[in-house]
Amino acid sequence: MSVQVLTTVARSMVAPGKGILAADESTGTIERRFKSIEVENTEENRRAYRDLLFSAKGMDQYIGGVILFDETLRQKSADGTPFPRLIERQGAIPGIKVDAGAKDMALCPGETITEGLDNLARRCAEYVKLGAKFAKWRAVITIGANIPSAACVGANAHALARYAAICQAAGLVPIVEPEVLMDGDNTIERCEEVTEWTLRETFAALASQRVAPEGMVLKPSMVISGKKCPKQAPVQEVAERTLAVLKRTVPAAVPGIAFLSGGQSEEVATAHLDAMNRLGGVPWLLSFSYGRALQQAALKAWKGSPANVAAAQAAFLHRARMNGLATAGKYSPDLEKRAA
Ligand code: 13P
Repeated sequence: MSVQVLTTVARSMVAPGKGILAADESTGTIERRFKSIEVENTEENRRAYRDLLFSAKGMDQYIGGVILFDETLRQKSADGTPFPRLIERQGAIPGIKVDAGAKDMALCPGETITEGLDNLARRCAEYVKLGAKFAKWRAVITIGANIPSAACVGANAHALARYAAICQAAGLVPIVEPEVLMDGDNTIERCEEVTEWTLRETFAALASQRVAPEGMVLKPSMVISGKKCPKQAPVQEVAERTLAVLKRTVPAAVPGIAFLSGGQSEEVATAHLDAMNRLGGVPWLLSFSYGRALQQAALKAWKGSPANVAAAQAAFLHRARMNGLATAGKYSPDLEKRAA
């Protein structure tokens, strides 16, 4: 493994003005997304939808990396081009979700542990052959009564670190994603506390597994009020608290931080990223690795019909451009209205 090569890949995934398209929904997750637009979850519909996203002209200006699911990495565009090739032609780097999902954790009711370490080295070797240059593993931390537990935070940090080490040894840049869920009724203060704890444990585990911080990308959740909390913190407070926690916990050697959107609306996710880049004063590139916040409008415009492909691509490109501007602190809600 060459740390220098890993650093170069990591930097181009989050190059200024660009971010990552998370299109790695598992077959079960994409089913939920398709249900919302009444589209049947067939292999061909999944292929056609991803084809529409990856072939959108102009994507190269805003998207530096695309995360794929195992099935998608092996699929082809309508003209026969394998998706990893198409993505490269579009100026982005193809990557692969390698975790096997968050599963109920033994003896820890209400909590999950992410699985997928068994045979990971072998799978990574195959993914490299198929053209992947980076990988993703998502750990899930739930805030609730008496949770998270130390058992859950510790086990997920350890799994993330083992995954990251295996990826770097295979020549893949690991996206390390410890997601603190935003679905509860907790305050932003509680989210700050849990996020700081989780990131501390994660970086301690990464160091003990010898992971090079220079050759990874962090994909954290933002410090935000729980969705069901009656008091919702404003954009500026989310930006300030998120950066404060990152400064306390993330080594300056990490090249980039690409946030997940985690169920925030598209425009709010963009506004938060923009506010953080306006604050600045941090050693990392601050970017996005959004799934829902890049795709919601595109899915709605598509509705499974070939006649809507151009409209869906326009919706996707608009979101990508808004987030690209947010990576430079140059977004404004007015730009949404002008485009609409
Ligand atoms: P969201 O932005 O929809 O949270 O998805 C990002 C992702 O990759 C979750 O693992």
